[in-house]
Amino acid sequence: MKKLFILMCATGLTFSVATAKEGKKKSCCQKKAATTCVKPTEVKVGNPADVKAASGPFQIENLQYGYADLEKAIDKETMEIHFSKHYLGYTNNLNKAVEGKSIANQSIEEILKNLDMSNGALRNNGGGFYNHRMYFATMSPNGGGTPTGKLAEAINQTFGSFDALKKQLEEAGAKRFGSGWAWLFVNKQGKLQVGSTANQDNPLMPGLDISGTPILGIDVWEHAYYLKYQNKRGAYLDAFFSVVDWNKVAENYAKAIAQ
Ligand SMILES: [Fe+2]
Repeated sequence: MKKLFILMCATGLTFSVATAKEGKKKSCCQKKAATTCVKPTEVKVGNPADVKAASGPFQIENLQYGYADLEKAIDKETMEIHFSKHYLGYTNNLNKAVEGKSIANQSIEEILKNLDMSNGALRNNGGGFYNHRMYFATMSPNGGGTPTGKLAEAINQTFGSFDALKKQLEEAGAKRFGSGWAWLFVNKQGKLQVGSTANQDNPLMPGLDISGTPILGIDVWEHAYYLKYQNKRGAYLDAFFSVVDWNKVAENYAKAIAQ
């Protein structure tokens, strides 16, 4: 916001444009008018703990950090809209899609693995729920760095190095045409693999080019990055790695290889 304020002053696009016509208030860049300067209001964000899905078997997984806590990579406005509108919307619509059906008692993983891919409501909203739950859970203000332990060993064995994995994930995200996801997942052979899917699909779903259990998903829909990065998806992908919670990804890996 501070940058925007400075930019607007520098370009003469001040908040006093309208008021200048009144002949009373002047540009915030004019020292003489400092007492009447109209400064932009800081955008306030809500509390993620207030976000609750409507009734149904699926609920929002609480965010373990605030909307503003990932600002080194993702701005707070994007985080709030993404979590409280998009993730919530998929969750509510998933609850509607399973209402009154026997699958309402199943886990989201079971539902997606046995999905009828022609069922658009379940495919889009079930995928959207699962994907966003993983996305928000695998980021942290204390994230970044590199993986350790068995996950690091598996990454080195499969990709040669962490940097090579990062490059593959960034390429998968950058090359995904339109909206979708880049994935690090454990394939049917129990090995790590990188790939991408369109829209809200993921490797759990049947009949896709890639198949397995996701352990890290990178949302490359424009709603995940456009406010801060505009069309520079590559810059968002690079910054995303500064907030990845590799401990959480390692937990996901341990569960995936135990299946
Ligand atoms: Fe998203």
